[in-house]
Amino acid sequence: MDEALALARRGEGRTSPNPAVGAVVLDARGELAGRGWHERAGAPHAEAAALREAGERARGGTLYLTLEPCAHQGRTPPCAPAVAGAGVARVVAAVQDPDPRTSGRGFQILRDAGVRIEAGLRAREAVRLNEPFFTWQREGRPFVTLKAAASLDGRIASRTGASRWITGERARAWAHEYRDRVDAILVGSGTVLKDDPLLTARPEGREGKPLLRIILDSHLETPETAKVLPPDRGVATILATTGEAPREREALLRRAGAEVLRLGPPEGGRVPLAPLVVELGKRGVRHLLVEGGGRVHGAFLGGGWAHKVLFFLAPLIMGDAQAPGAVAGLAPGLPGGGLRLTHVRWERLGEDMLAEGYLRPPVWAAYGEDGDV
Ligand SMILES: NC(=O)c1ccc[n+]([C@@H]2O[C@H](COP(=O)([O-])OP(=O)(O)OC[C@H]3O[C@@H](n4cnc5c(N)ncnc54)[C@H](OP(=O)(O)O)[C@@H]3O)[C@@H](O)[C@H]2O)c1
Repeated sequence: MDEALALARRGEGRTSPNPAVGAVVLDARGELAGRGWHERAGAPHAEAAALREAGERARGGTLYLTLEPCAHQGRTPPCAPAVAGAGVARVVAAVQDPDPRTSGRGFQILRDAGVRIEAGLRAREAVRLNEPFFTWQREGRPFVTLKAAASLDGRIASRTGASRWITGERARAWAHEYRDRVDAILVGSGTVLKDDPLLTARPEGREGKPLLRIILDSHLETPETAKVLPPDRGVATILATTGEAPREREALLRRAGAEVLRLGPPEGGRVPLAPLVVELGKRGVRHLLVEGGGRVHGAFLGGGWAHKVLFFLAPLIMGDAQAPGAVAGLAPGLPGGGLRLTHVRWERLGEDMLAEGYLRPPVWAAYGEDGDV
């Protein structure tokens, strides 16, 4: 199963809207016969790839899989009947598929064909690997991660709005690797006006995948010359706005290549987040990365839309109460009224520290390490 999980990780961030899955086939003597992983949506599923490599050696063997084989026809044929047809004697799966079209039915097809099933080995790890997918299946909306780079005193820019660079090279490279694993990235109009970002994934040594980019801009004040507007490899940037935004601005921004998405009713004059996340979910976004600024982070946290935060802390002191903070607008009366994170992990990246934590128990926390699903 370790090997199957490692194979699944090769597809991480590439398979959306599908989960990343890995598979290993051992022959009847327990020797490695085939390996596979789901490389991207539309490509063969992990078990199909592993069975193809194993060929006749799968007969009487064991298939290790990080997720229950699918029972439904998607872009590729269902896997459970193919596993049974390959003559596999035993399937060890990390976790049941939460997709209602398959959940439990994949195992049943195999049982009916006389295949022995063991489920639950390394379940927590398998779910954690696919937390956006599992969250989407449970909540019907994207998994939302908030990311910020702050000084030790919590500032994400100077009072003039300059934010380059707060963290060091390693943290910035890490952030680009992370961008390359999400489906969509969102910032507020304040960040576009101050930073004029590209919002693309630029992982080291390879081309990043095109991301769906979203700007919250209630009055369509984003300049037509903003770097984020030209479509990236055919993917248009969405300017999420309200019904109040001027029509002539809409026409100009459309001409610059953007999609204008009017959402309503406005919340405090601003873009309402509830219909936005629903719309993104419909478009197949499983993982949305929110990269600020402070007011947008405050809106996502205050509305309960965020699942996870990734805050980088740099050994830098800004010492300016006028400089923007990582989160604005929550204003608890007492420290205890702040949002305390759960399942916190700290990682050192060069001179900086990365804090990862959840706003509510993560979807994988309900699964056992081994066996007890
Ligand atoms: N270090 C970092 O990690 C980092 C990351 C990002 C940004 N920054 C810095 O943060 C600063 C910008 O932060 P900011 O707080 O001024 O701006 P922001 O959060 O980027 O954008 C806020 C603006 O977004 C628009 N908006 C539309 N709908 C909204 C909603 N539902 N909730 C919240 N905002 C909504 C509002 O303007 P309208 O009413 O006009 O629509 C609002 O003023 C810049 O200086 C930038 O450099 C730093």
